[in-house]
Amino acid sequence: MRMKNLYRKPITTAGSRYCSISVLIIWTLLILVSIFLLHLYSSFNMIQPQPLASFHFHQLQQIENHNFQIPPPNKKSLPQIKSITPLVDEFLDQDSSLREVFFPMETIRKRNDSYNNYYFPGRIWLDTDGNPIQAHGGCVLFDESSTTYYWYGEYKDGPTYLANHNKGPARVDIIGVGCYSSKDLWTWKNEGIVLSAEKTNKTHDLHKSNVLERPKVIYNEKTRKYVMWMHIDSANYAKASIGIAISDTPIGPFEYLGSQRPHGYQSRDMTVFKDEDGVAYLIYSSEGNNVMHIGPLTENYLNVTSVMRRVFVGQRREAPAMFKHKGTYYMITSGCTGWAPNEALVHASDSILGTWETIGNPCVGGNKMFRVSTFLAQSAFVLPLKRFPGLFIFMADRWNPGELRDSRYVWLPLIVDGHDDDQAIEYGFGYRLWARVSIYWHRKWKLPLGWNTFK
Ligand code: DGJ
Repeated sequence: MRMKNLYRKPITTAGSRYCSISVLIIWTLLILVSIFLLHLYSSFNMIQPQPLASFHFHQLQQIENHNFQIPPPNKKSLPQIKSITPLVDEFLDQDSSLREVFFPMETIRKRNDSYNNYYFPGRIWLDTDGNPIQAHGGCVLFDESSTTYYWYGEYKDGPTYLANHNKGPARVDIIGVGCYSSKDLWTWKNEGIVLSAEKTNKTHDLHKSNVLERPKVIYNEKTRKYVMWMHIDSANYAKASIGIAISDTPIGPFEYLGSQRPHGYQSRDMTVFKDEDGVAYLIYSSEGNNVMHIGPLTENYLNVTSVMRRVFVGQRREAPAMFKHKGTYYMITSGCTGWAPNEALVHASDSILGTWETIGNPCVGGNKMFRVSTFLAQSAFVLPLKRFPGLFIFMADRWNPGELRDSRYVWLPLIVDGHDDDQAIEYGFGYRLWARVSIYWHRKWKLPLGWNTFK
């Protein structure tokens, strides 16, 4: 028999309506509170430096393979040898079947399309006028007063020929130092040639028949001058000197002050590094490229001082690019193989004047050939991204010795992680443990959201 539940409240229509209205109110309140919390969270993120382990970094740290095979030699004189062509021979061969891998003809197009803000290492990169960017062996300066980035580099848009009556290295006559400006590190406006070649006076350092390479610009707060240091050489690289120029504005024109052999030594590939305390340093390959020299500049950045340290003695390193993270100094260098790529090494030190220790090859991803050839490129500069401590842009040149003006840029994320200072001391066996420095290969990548404080 069915029992009647005497305690059951009769359901009235008014009661059920009241019930659903309160549920609705509670849900609305919940949604509003979540929106408010989300908003709070994202605005908090906008002002705080992002932690290294944030999800943006994970994307950049994903290992991306890029497989290609080096074909057997196709030279008729060597038909019986089934060996594999060395990567560098293949790279230097204008008719290589891998030409499109090394020098893709596709272009990073202008804004407003799907390429927007994506870096494509190795592809032709156009400025806002639609012309390939000419800023090789360069550097990027962030100008605090205009909150603008300036990219300086060798303007090489001239014919390539062999120096010294076809017996010397491939070269382009000096045209000058190109300068491009950007607010987003992707869209670059051509600001023109900020230091020009000398066309008539053959005794001038900047005469077009000489060599001007690897210009680096830093700003001196005390003198309010933009100071450019550069490798100045004769066509056969015998002059081995350093040139200095200054300007009142980042877009020049720079006034050339002359050249010198710093500390009385040869100077070829070089860079300058401005430390957090405002002291700037010159780092240069010297003594027949066998030794790297490091020394502080004078307060006005126009000369070297008497202090200098010799590092990487006998290691034959060039193309130095220095950066700093959590009090540790790092340097990426290449070997000395002319315009051909080789293996990069990263070095670390607690003090800029040494002792420096070589950590190893920082390249991650691609394939082994990519990794032992620095993704077919050579270091030029390492640019810190202030909002993301530990994240840098590794700027490198993929030189095209057959057509130097068509040399490409390889910009990739460089990440310093692994907590060197948190390591338990016993793991070090008394040795200094360094953080891990990695340059990640990506066919296509972009900077993590919110990197730009100035937008
Ligand atoms: C390698 C250097 O890093 C480049 O700047 C340039 O000097 C070439 N050598 C010339 O062969």
